[in-house]
Amino acid sequence: MPTHATPRLVKTVSELRAAVAAARSEGSKIGLVPTMGALHEGHLSLVRASRRECGFTVVTIYVNPSQFGPSEDYRRYPRTLEDDIRRLAGAADLVFAPADEEVYPSGYSTWVDVGAVAAPLEGQYRPGHFCGVATIVLKLFQMAGADEAYFGQKDYQQVLVIRRMVEDLNVPIAIRVCPTVREPDGLAMSSRNACLSAEARRRALVLWKSLRLAQDMVAGGERRTAVILSEMERTIHCGPVNRIDYVVLVDPQTLLPIDVIDGPALAAVAVVVEQTRLIDNCLLEP
Ligand code: PAJ
Repeated sequence: MPTHATPRLVKTVSELRAAVAAARSEGSKIGLVPTMGALHEGHLSLVRASRRECGFTVVTIYVNPSQFGPSEDYRRYPRTLEDDIRRLAGAADLVFAPADEEVYPSGYSTWVDVGAVAAPLEGQYRPGHFCGVATIVLKLFQMAGADEAYFGQKDYQQVLVIRRMVEDLNVPIAIRVCPTVREPDGLAMSSRNACLSAEARRRALVLWKSLRLAQDMVAGGERRTAVILSEMERTIHCGPVNRIDYVVLVDPQTLLPIDVIDGPALAAVAVVVEQTRLIDNCLLEP
């Protein structure tokens, strides 16, 4: 594909399958990058990773209603399909952007419920969220029949949920995880950043500041999570933010809280700034 070529847009599962089958018959490995659009450099890093490893890269763009709670920002979520397709020029081969009826036709009634790892953190504050995520991701895997799928560490728990599902349901796909891409000042890139006012954007920096602080404290020898957490919370309150959902140090596999950092730990934060809910995380290696 010429480096500037705009990817082809398809909206139905049958067109998607036909395009994937054609690429496979030419010997290409198929890479899949599921997204909800409003693409930024974080998404594009996944697309580039797929392009490096796979001969044919499919990007899906679908704002999945089933992963949003009734009081969440489904309606407000940015939708910028034409710009997204332009941004993917030279990077993706195919864009799959189905309509709701293609994904959840009338009578739809099957849901994927991943257990323990979906319960804490985002699962606690967004009931039903991971059921919606696991269901749409499994459906996209089934629709595309890709060899590899690319996800960002930005949504750390989402990766654990998807890995669990893939293992438990014997889904024949390899899961690849790419590092969180940040703005120059450290704010994790997110489609929701577009919803922030200039003032909220400034306040949102406390997420990254608190994570950096945790990293610095661990590098400086601190091992007591209570001490680290109270400093992280103090930093976040300085935002100020409108609400803190959680600030935690947890086991990176089980997401259960830990008291003392004597191995790898995950620092994870979720806060609301103005009306926008933001999450971020980083791994701490003592
Ligand atoms: P979305 O928020 O659009 O994110 C799509 C993918 O991009 C996810 O794997 C996410 O972790 C990754 N991503 C987002 N911001 C990133 C950043 N700053 N750096 C690196 N990767 C980043 O996550 C979803 O959509 C949905 O839940 C989805 C999996 C598509 C299911 O609907």
